[in-house]
Amino acid sequence: SKYDLIIRGGTVVTAADTIRADVAIHAGRIVAVADRLSGGTREIDAGGLLVMPGGIDSHVHLAQPAFGGPAMADDFESGTRSAIAGGTTTILPFALQPRGASLRQSVLDYHKEADGKSYCDYGFHLIISDPTPSVLGQELPALVADGYTSFKVFMTYDDLVLNDRQLLEVFDCARDCGALVMVHCEGYDAIRFMTEKLERAGKTAPYYHAASRPASVEREATHRAISHAELVEVPIMIVHVSGREPMEQIRWAQQKGLKVYGETCPQYIALTADDLKGLNMDESGGKYVCSPPPRDRASWDAIWEGIRTGVFQTFSSDHCPFFYEGNQGKLNPKARTSFRWVPNGIPGVETRLQILFSKGVVEGRITLNDFVALTSTNHAKMYGLYPGKGSIAPGFDADIVIWDPNRKETIRQELMHHGADYTPYEGIAVTGWPIMTILRGKLVAEEGRILGTPGRGRFLKRSLSPFAEPRHS
Ligand code: URP
Ligand code: ZN
Ligand code: ZN
Ligand code: ZN
Repeated sequence: SKYDLIIRGGTVVTAADTIRADVAIHAGRIVAVADRLSGGTREIDAGGLLVMPGGIDSHVHLAQPAFGGPAMADDFESGTRSAIAGGTTTILPFALQPRGASLRQSVLDYHKEADGKSYCDYGFHLIISDPTPSVLGQELPALVADGYTSFKVFMTYDDLVLNDRQLLEVFDCARDCGALVMVHCEGYDAIRFMTEKLERAGKTAPYYHAASRPASVEREATHRAISHAELVEVPIMIVHVSGREPMEQIRWAQQKGLKVYGETCPQYIALTADDLKGLNMDESGGKYVCSPPPRDRASWDAIWEGIRTGVFQTFSSDHCPFFYEGNQGKLNPKARTSFRWVPNGIPGVETRLQILFSKGVVEGRITLNDFVALTSTNHAKMYGLYPGKGSIAPGFDADIVIWDPNRKETIRQELMHHGADYTPYEGIAVTGWPIMTILRGKLVAEEGRILGTPGRGRFLKRSLSPFAEPRHS
């Protein structure tokens, strides 16, 4: 027959439009979006459901090296299984360069972890921890040309932090290569100072993780990153923005006409620092330790303000899973001695869409089209996957999530497909849930059942981001 698959009778939502239409798929691509299509080998009845571009999660950590701490709870198999179960069809995890290592070798190592083991499509951002002359002069430009067109730098963490001079060198290199730089904005020295001060006072419970890196620390680093980017005239993406103060720095830069972009995450509209208190100031609080830490309810409002007014372009999970229980868990014996040793990061690749849909669309803060832009289209545009990924139109990959906007569910660990032994969103009631996930025309997840296979996911070589183009003056 003419088409491999027709998705019939749904409401097709893109970043621009909401229309009742059938979607025809052939050879993994969308070939028609129209009224009453016929001639499909297979049909899916999407009556009463939304048909949206599969989620693209541009901030995911899988199988990163442990630097002496506990290993991550997800490898590519479990992490991408969790992604498709949650309606996400493309992820962009990080290929981390440990200090002293070749960037190219690090990328090869991640391909070994991912290739043949992924349920969804994937590309890699690079993490630059050691910007030597040969990394910036040769390896990085060559990798950008090979489709690794974005990279992340850190302003904190012992094993990753770059000083201001190094940040400027990397920014300058990004400008020359046309790559997009993502920046983790928290000030290293301030965090170290606060950490040691809290520890001296015996304040070592997980809760003090949040106290050791308050909003001012994030605001200062955000401002510093913006100033450095202005100096070398390079666009930057400020990732995982937690609340009002850094949001306002980004808005200020955008209003000046600088190309500064923003990303935020579910933890900053669904969790607060109080969650880190746990029950006894030393127990389940470790489950919520991530950086920047979740703040307070007023910060949720600030994040929504940033989402609604376009300060943020992308809503990503920052999925970075660790076990909670056991010797490899967040509260391993060493981590019990101080929050400093609790590994930073929480799982969330499977629950990103539900949280934004429920709190955003259902509660009336954003439109359906905003939802698609924030979870898929803008990620594709920002990171060189567009066109091809991120919309429902002829010529795009048939990456689709079929979504029940009325389904009520309570997020809980037993529903999850990730490797971690908990979800930080346990008990959160949501409306809206993925019913089917389609990857390049194949049904890969349905109602929590995994139908795809590890190895169906493909590596995506990415184009240069149009957003990385320096401002023309
Ligand atoms: O705590 C977090 N977010 N861990 C992941 C690494 C990062 O900084 O994104
Ligand atoms: Zn064919
Ligand atoms: Zn980060
Ligand atoms: Zn991250």
